[in-house]
Amino acid sequence: MPDLLLAVRNVRAGYGEAVVLDDVSFEVPSGESLAVLGRNGVGKSTLVLTIMGFTTLIRGSLVWRGEEITHLAPHRRPRRGLGWVAQEREIFASLSVEENLTVASRPGRWDLAAVFELFPRLAERRHARGHHLSGGEQQMLAIARALMTNPDLLLLDEPLEGLAPIIVEELTAAIRRMTGEQGSTLILVEQHADIALGLTEHVIVLERGKIVHRGRSRDTLREPVLLDRYLGLTLSDSPPASGP
Ligand SMILES: Nc1ncnc2c1ncn2[C@@H]1O[C@H](COP(=O)(O)OP(=O)(O)O)[C@@H](O)[C@H]1O
Ligand SMILES: [Mg+2]
Repeated sequence: MPDLLLAVRNVRAGYGEAVVLDDVSFEVPSGESLAVLGRNGVGKSTLVLTIMGFTTLIRGSLVWRGEEITHLAPHRRPRRGLGWVAQEREIFASLSVEENLTVASRPGRWDLAAVFELFPRLAERRHARGHHLSGGEQQMLAIARALMTNPDLLLLDEPLEGLAPIIVEELTAAIRRMTGEQGSTLILVEQHADIALGLTEHVIVLERGKIVHRGRSRDTLREPVLLDRYLGLTLSDSPPASGP
């Protein structure tokens, strides 16, 4: 059995008095990838923020490598090996690509050479300042910077949001390499459900702060009714609802 990295147990969390997540439980074993899907506003980012310690946790627990981190201060979590890319893609605008990467660096297999190999576009732009990058380049930089901390688990919150199709393809290829040949453990929050299901092994679907579906990503891709109901997704290659 693979090592359990993260266990989220019966978590109820939100912002102050406002409860967003209710009774959320799932586990992430080392080396696995989990897609977190659901429509806008169902609590996906809140889940990521809760794992990183930025919300009000009312009930339940977070266990990381067998140790409870439920009340661990947010700034200590990255040092324990939790890597996170916020939906807002925070990079240092006045620093160059290379500087953005080296300030975050911690020893491990992800170094400058490795992230430049994963994102050739960043290698070309290594001397460009953050504010001169396109949206796609900024997203790649945000992910590359998180990798430079050599996290045991990487949380990506809608990395494909608002990007041009060609950039989505490049990022998708990079994420596939991270989870595939590199064996990185990943939680991938996405609106692009079909892409996310193609990139991950397991999936949970949220609806109004609760998990309403969990399963293998590959199997979930073959459930058009579920995909339509919770994600409003009609797959282009799924059979039409009614024949001609
Ligand atoms: N800082 C906040 N304070 C209060 N409520 C928030 C805050 N951020 C998000 N919410 C609310 O929490 C719910 C879930 O939001 P969010 O986790 O961002 O959803 P998703 O990422 O799935 O789109 C929404 O109703 C949203 O309005
Ligand atoms: Mg969100």
